[in-house]
Amino acid sequence: MKTVLVTGGAGFIGSNFIHYVLQTRDDVQKLVNLDLLTYAGNLENLADIENDPRYTFVQGDIRDRTAVKAIFDRCDFDTVVHFAAESHVDRSIEEPEVFLTTNVVGTQTLLDAARDHWKLAPEDKYSRAYKPGVRYLQVSTDEVYGALGKTGLFTETTPVSPNSPYSASKAGADMVVRAYGVTYGMPVNITRCSNNYGPCQFPEKLIPLMIHNALDDKVLPVYGDGMQVRDWLHVKDHCAAICAVLDRGEPGEIYNVGGNNERSNLEIVRLVLRALDKPESLITHVKDRPGHDRRYAINNEKITTTLGWQPVYTFDQGIAETIRWYLDNRSWVEHVISGEYQNYYKKMYGT
Ligand code: NAD
Ligand code: TYD
Repeated sequence: MKTVLVTGGAGFIGSNFIHYVLQTRDDVQKLVNLDLLTYAGNLENLADIENDPRYTFVQGDIRDRTAVKAIFDRCDFDTVVHFAAESHVDRSIEEPEVFLTTNVVGTQTLLDAARDHWKLAPEDKYSRAYKPGVRYLQVSTDEVYGALGKTGLFTETTPVSPNSPYSASKAGADMVVRAYGVTYGMPVNITRCSNNYGPCQFPEKLIPLMIHNALDDKVLPVYGDGMQVRDWLHVKDHCAAICAVLDRGEPGEIYNVGGNNERSNLEIVRLVLRALDKPESLITHVKDRPGHDRRYAINNEKITTTLGWQPVYTFDQGIAETIRWYLDNRSWVEHVISGEYQNYYKKMYGT
């Protein structure tokens, strides 16, 4: 991996990934971040590296064929790591359409540009030969598998059965990536990870929303009984897993990535309150999310045994560091929640 296109690099995981790569990978000579800067994209996440000679930011839409092709023509990428997406389940319930256009059509646009650029014999429609060493990695989610009951874990062969417009759009994108691998022989991978946590996560998602509300002594809105379970993964462990797949992953393979760390939502909320020395009386049970998946949990065996990746963060360490980051970066939160987020919050939670 020498010349890397990262899409959605101004978001939560993408910005952590860019830092991770620039800090740990001397082999990367150029990294371009293509991001539309939607409400979820924030260049403040990257302010400390904006003058790094290896890094370039391009504002653009992955659905814009002309713009995406132009970036490939300018930079001879050998690696694409595709994070850009509409990523929030609750928003997908309110406004599904943009999830389909960005997550599915945007993915196809990117695949087409990579295919055109990497194909060795563009005039031969049957050719499956690509430039050596190229790789397209689709960052997907365990939510494509749907919901688990009390027991069991998602493996890579669990049938895809998404329940929200968000997870349906991610599953649709995965199917397109898979088809480009099978039909055109493109060297693709898909990673499906569990819920990430860590610095720079937009405060519409559970952990930063609860930290932010608790700090302001606002109610903590827990959907339904709060006993839904997620398998929390530290974002830096996720970044290491993506690099492991880029370095050693078999083309065409899917890799699940999880933190071996199942927690109920109520457990998370109580932990945040304890860490901030705030009372449990702030917890307020609100109407449940429609179609709410009860439990997600990942079987990591494939990536650990075949690629040697392991999560290294304990949840105690990861969550303590994350809460500390939000305490130390209150102005970051204030900036990202000004404007559009206030309207969203009123629409979602009524206050
Ligand atoms: P995020 O919402 O924080 O960031 C998404 C980024 O994509 C933003 O910077 C946004 O500006 C950009 N973007 C959106 N539409 C775009 C478009 N049309 N063109 C170009 N850029 C666009 O998301 P995240 O939490 O960092 O998630 C990144 C990826 O990881 C997503 O694909 C998501 O589905 C996947 N994922 C996330 C989690 C999680 O817990 N956050 C878990 C599993 C998978
Ligand atoms: P979220 O962070 O939106 O991630 P996902 O839905 O992709 O798993 O939500 C994590 C869990 O927390 C999920 O079960 C929904 C729940 N939740 C609440 O109970 N209250 C909230 O205000 C939010 C945002 C989420």
